[in-house]
Amino acid sequence: MASTTHTPGSGEDSEPAAQDGAPKSSISTANGSVAGSRQTTQVADRFSSFGQTIFTEISALAAQHKAVNLGQGFPDFDGADFVKEAAIQAIRDGKSQYALMTGVPDLATEIADVFERDTGIEVDAKKEVTVTAGCTEAIASAFLGLCNPGDEVVVFEPAYDSYKAAMAMAGAMVKPVVLRPPDFSFSRDELSAAFSSKTRVILINTPHNPTGRVFTESELQFIADLAARHDALVFSDEVYHRLLYNGACHVSIAQLPGMYDRTVTLNSLGKTFSLTGWKVGWAIAPPPLSHAIRMAHQFVTFSVATPLQHGAAAALRAPPQFYEQVRADYTRRRDILLEGLRDVGFNVFEPQGSFFVMADFTPFGFDDDVAFSKHLIEKVGVAAIPPSGFYSNPAEGKHLIRFAFCKTDAVLLEAVRRLKQHLKLQEPCDRKAVS
Ligand SMILES: Cc1ncc(COP(=O)(O)O)c(C=O)c1O
Repeated sequence: MASTTHTPGSGEDSEPAAQDGAPKSSISTANGSVAGSRQTTQVADRFSSFGQTIFTEISALAAQHKAVNLGQGFPDFDGADFVKEAAIQAIRDGKSQYALMTGVPDLATEIADVFERDTGIEVDAKKEVTVTAGCTEAIASAFLGLCNPGDEVVVFEPAYDSYKAAMAMAGAMVKPVVLRPPDFSFSRDELSAAFSSKTRVILINTPHNPTGRVFTESELQFIADLAARHDALVFSDEVYHRLLYNGACHVSIAQLPGMYDRTVTLNSLGKTFSLTGWKVGWAIAPPPLSHAIRMAHQFVTFSVATPLQHGAAAALRAPPQFYEQVRADYTRRRDILLEGLRDVGFNVFEPQGSFFVMADFTPFGFDDDVAFSKHLIEKVGVAAIPPSGFYSNPAEGKHLIRFAFCKTDAVLLEAVRRLKQHLKLQEPCDRKAVS
């Protein structure tokens, strides 16, 4: 494991490796060779720096050791029946041919209505909403449609894995700005310095994966001012916007004065509705930006599974009580994990949003996230994600580990039980020796 370079590919939303069954011999390594065979790589240069996804590797190891998997970020419980029934009904009604390239009108209208209710911004569903194959495709189509090779993109790190791959496809250059513990806010000086005359986009993600950080209005205003000063676009990934804790409040940067015209708001059904496998997402942007996104989308996927779009439209008609219940359930799951991790001795960074928690594991005498995650799986029976691959400079994340709490109470409690039973704090004198 330690010998493989981990670049986080698009693995978060994929099936665990145990299920995908990819033979070890076909796994590309970071240097482009094919592990276990004499073939030379067939991978195009733009992906030559992308190795096996850490999610695939962790899940394979977790399955091998029968570890409780708090690694990948997808729920181990099902979506709501009223949503599934709407998709099933659409299939029965013969809604099985290509949807409109921009999305089933019923869904596009719901997306526009929800956006208006949330932000106060009225958008034209026909011209400003594009339904995509998950938020992942919305991200890729936004980069492909709006960036030229050599354009610079300011990105907060740790960063969700598909961002850099989408930028690589578009030929855009990454300008990282690190979010650091304990609160994972950013240095305003570092952010200002990351902008240049080549900056085309700043990409934000709030609530943030993996830190759980929810950007404040003042931070968003600072970002907005920089974007305006440099005439940059903002891509705002808001897939966790319903998962908020302790009174945290989500603000869409598009809501700030003058910002809608330069913002692409990205979202999807998967996280809020526990339907990650449906891959229904969307991009909301003013007509010139939507037109550019659609130029890419029409050739990337053209359209998204028709019956699932009908299901998605039903989902977005959910009453406010539905979201309250989602939030209450996630608050309970979060609390089980937070309390357990604290009891065991982790330094926990309490998330304000999303379904992830980052923790510092150095009290256990380890100083490398990949080695610690391997120990967790093999000796403790719990899988979590080492996040160093989410940074341009992996050292920034070497002391952290990411747990996902989109799991049933029973699974979370079992994980906590195993951690309590098998994980031992390093004695203070030993700890000194380690540092
Ligand atoms: C921050 C972030 N954006 C986007 C996605 C992908 O969303 P989708 O499954 O809708 O493609 C994920 C999935 O893990 C994510 O964490």
